[in-house]
Amino acid sequence: MSELWDRVTETFTALYGGPPTHLVRAPGRVNLIGEHTDYNEGFVLPMAIDRAIWIALRPRPDRHIKLYSLDFANEFTFSLDRITYSQEGWGKYIKGIAWVLHNNGYQLSGWEGVIVGDIPIGAGLSSSAALELAAAAAFAAASGFAWEPTSMAKLAQVSENSWIRVKSGIMDQLVCANGKQGHALFIDCRNLEMTPITLPPEASVLILDTSTRRELADSEYNKRRRDCAVAAAKLGLSALRDAKLEDLSNPQLDPVLPKRARHVITENARVLAAVTALQSGNLAELGNLLNASHASLRDDFEVSRSELDQMVALAEAHPDCYGARLTGAGFGGCVVALVRRGAEKEFSERVAAGYLAATGLNAEIYAVNAADGVQIIGHLDIAPPIRKN
Ligand code: GLA
Repeated sequence: MSELWDRVTETFTALYGGPPTHLVRAPGRVNLIGEHTDYNEGFVLPMAIDRAIWIALRPRPDRHIKLYSLDFANEFTFSLDRITYSQEGWGKYIKGIAWVLHNNGYQLSGWEGVIVGDIPIGAGLSSSAALELAAAAAFAAASGFAWEPTSMAKLAQVSENSWIRVKSGIMDQLVCANGKQGHALFIDCRNLEMTPITLPPEASVLILDTSTRRELADSEYNKRRRDCAVAAAKLGLSALRDAKLEDLSNPQLDPVLPKRARHVITENARVLAAVTALQSGNLAELGNLLNASHASLRDDFEVSRSELDQMVALAEAHPDCYGARLTGAGFGGCVVALVRRGAEKEFSERVAAGYLAATGLNAEIYAVNAADGVQIIGHLDIAPPIRKN
């Protein structure tokens, strides 16, 4: 039984004087390859990971949401009758989900709960998508509506774009909702078709946290997204998904746009090649694709930073590493590395020592496993709470 599961349940019982009726779990994710391609209607290959956000909850007979965070040691409350925008910390993600569900016709009930998580925040492992989907699952459990993973992922993205005001693509929410244990998820972000791809037993997926965090990430992210939209429009395309390498010499594209477009074109090709490499068990080829993805993110898309480059260089130099790259939006956070199974410990120690020597920073390095997407556990057949209004 998960430690986090126990902690939310115990705290819930102590705080509210009775057990929760439901537990929900929403995982973080690591993207193996396919970065900044989702909002260009391209391809991505992420996996949900065994780090997650948990909420223990119980419906309330009124229209209030009361949620205590073990990580922040504070409580967030609001009424479903007054969902107003404000910039409050983690609670705004919960409110944003209430807002988007309400706007889309879901009948919401109040609930009280306790939340905890072990996804590092701002590290590129999608703690915000997990928080959004955990909140959506809590509303589904408390209000008694059916859980439809892809619809919920799309609504969570609407909240992220319009309430949180980060113009992120659909990858994080989709894989958080639809992840499959032991598999990465190959997603075509044009039609949202998802294909689980078995992960090879002879390799471990390692997260190498540079302990730097995104700075100015949201505005830079939105800027990259705009660059891509402008480049597509100048090429007369609806999305860069359809751009070809020969388009890069188009004089319509100003100095920076050919680089942005080249990243998207080559990254999409790398994702397709990575799926083939995984299916044929060619880990050396997969590793080369990861390394090439990092170079493209660094040089063409310009979303890396020196600590990420340093970490990737140290990982790539290790004989048991197939390949490594920054993962997530960039600007800080984590590197993902594919390492020969059995070599994790020695790899981690050597890379962490090299990283400390080079940057003066402590790296946190750990293995992750591919996990299932959102889970709702509990008495889903309980009678809906009596409404007072
Ligand atoms: C963030 C966004 C995703 C995606 C990645 C970059 O994680 O939320 O939609 O664009 O950055 O690949």
